[in-house]
Amino acid sequence: MLPLADAYGRVATDLRVSLTDRCNLRCTYCMPPEGLDWMPDDQLLTNDELVRLVRIGVERLGIGSVRLTGGEPLLRQDLPQIIAAVADLTPRPTIALTTNGIGLARRAGDLKAAGLDRINVSLDTLDPARFQVMTRRRRHADVLAGIRAAKEAGLEPVKINSVLMRGLNDDEAPALVDWAGREGVQLRFIEQMPLDAQHGWRRDRMVTADEILASLAGHGLRPVAAEGTVRGSAPSELFRVGDTSQLVGVIASVSRPFCGACDRVRLTADGQIRNCLFSRTEDDLRTALRSGASDEEIAEQWVRAVAGKHPGHGINDPSFLQPDRPMSAIGG
Ligand code: GTP
Ligand code: 5AD
Ligand code: SF4
Repeated sequence: MLPLADAYGRVATDLRVSLTDRCNLRCTYCMPPEGLDWMPDDQLLTNDELVRLVRIGVERLGIGSVRLTGGEPLLRQDLPQIIAAVADLTPRPTIALTTNGIGLARRAGDLKAAGLDRINVSLDTLDPARFQVMTRRRRHADVLAGIRAAKEAGLEPVKINSVLMRGLNDDEAPALVDWAGREGVQLRFIEQMPLDAQHGWRRDRMVTADEILASLAGHGLRPVAAEGTVRGSAPSELFRVGDTSQLVGVIASVSRPFCGACDRVRLTADGQIRNCLFSRTEDDLRTALRSGASDEEIAEQWVRAVAGKHPGHGINDPSFLQPDRPMSAIGG
């Protein structure tokens, strides 16, 4: 086994695979109303190519968990087949999905049956009108139905990702926490990162972890650092809500970076390895695959790609430059 180690003592064991750069929402913090120039079909990995790369990661490189992302991964109609093929690998990795939830109501049962273990669904607001402003689509009810279906299918714990945007939904943290408590889902607030296609991120506009925690405290939902939970490499810092057993997470990528414990590596839908969300270089496994490279050669190229990983994302450095690819094309 070749570990995917970098020069800072970290080892990547969690592979995040983007299945498509396309999406059926247009979240304002992600992409413009007209969408983006989508990847051409011939550049997308086929199912077989994708599963081969995951297999190499699992069999040769110590990958133990696989998260399927997008864009919107449910847009890939062959998702159950991909999940089933990954679930068939030895040793079997845990398989998770990050989705916007549209269409999930119909598909949650099939995904679970194919081998999906866990699911994270994005939901930024409880108000359908606000949802329409934030995503530019009227699909709020679909997302709520998807979350319920995921629970019913046994894809638990269902985690909910919420990005708070100033002036749009930054007053909603307490209501979201109440809702999550009633629904029995784990809510995580995410600080907005400079990964939008429009390059519109501004530090002074970002709703910070401290503001979110203060807002909860101000509404009697006192967040207390959750003892007895192990964070490990998870981006999410967990808090208990007052004296209850409800857990709420904060993913404070900007104000409390967690890069020192990172165990992630990414594969884009067009077959590029990125050693970080914010990396400025990529390693082209698609060309290697399509020019007849052996499993061993691909594994070696992948090891080199991770070896060059930087110590952190650099967002807080004066010289920070946003990566060329937006988050929707990297994978969340
Ligand atoms: P679990 O906690 O294992 O369920 O997964 P997760 O939180 O890693 O997965 P998810 O796809 O739901 O990601 C939630 C958010 O975490 C993403 O939108 C990012 O904002 C953040 N995140 C995930 N991986 C990274 C990373 O490598 N770096 C940074 N800065 N943020 C990340
Ligand atoms: N910053 C932080 N989170 C983002 N997401 C999308 N774009 C950004 C960004 N610029 C979130 C989505 C989804 C998760 C995969 O990433 O809301 O929950
Ligand atoms: Fe789609 Fe996710 Fe981007 Fe929203 S954040 S537009 S759901 S890819």
